[in-house]
Amino acid sequence: MTTIIAPSILAADFSQLGEEVRAIDRAGADWIHVDVMDGHFVPNITIGPLVVAAVRPHTDKPIDVHLMIDPVDAYLEAFADAGADSITVHVEACTHLDRTLETIRMLGKRAGVALNPATPPELIRCVLDRLDLVLVMSVNPGFGGQSFIAATLSKISTVATMISDRPIVIEVDGGIGEANAGLVTGAGADVLVAGSAVFRNGDYARNIEAIRSAGDAAHRSH
Ligand code: DX5
Ligand code: ZN
Repeated sequence: MTTIIAPSILAADFSQLGEEVRAIDRAGADWIHVDVMDGHFVPNITIGPLVVAAVRPHTDKPIDVHLMIDPVDAYLEAFADAGADSITVHVEACTHLDRTLETIRMLGKRAGVALNPATPPELIRCVLDRLDLVLVMSVNPGFGGQSFIAATLSKISTVATMISDRPIVIEVDGGIGEANAGLVTGAGADVLVAGSAVFRNGDYARNIEAIRSAGDAAHRSH
């Protein structure tokens, strides 16, 4: 089982985003992680459907949209139309999570739910059959370049146990790099989001490969 690497374009050079997406695609990115922030659910504002549509033609890799917005239901169709392949919503922003996830699937997209560090996995137990992806936040959302919250490791294992043999992938997001990728996949993660660890120093292929091989080493060990 090879670890899936999803570079977050939040850490890219936004003055040449199309070229950056082509570069991480060529460098071996498996997914393209797009961090959408509204300045209300999180204390930062980034991008919307327009930017997903703008980068769509530059890659055939899955575009993995992470919606850190509230309200969220009103924007699902716009992100689906813009070219998202998976749409992940925050459980903390959804009053009617079951209906929101059903809507994402009706739009023909993979449905994901994200859990902030303080949110217990118990909150998604009743919607497991509506999920294709669980995103465990290993930082408090809003910014790239933050430090990994080690307490989330046990939560990843708890989610893995809860999922059991259902076809749901576990994605971990925030503060991931070569040094902790093995810890995270060892706890049960299938997909690693990395922003600053991929876009730093400009050698995207080396950075992606280093994170992937660190993640794979732990997979092999269990
Ligand atoms: C934070 C975002 C993360 C972040 C990852 O709110 O959801 O995807 O961009 O960036 P790094 O890898 O630098 O922590
Ligand atoms: Zn993210």
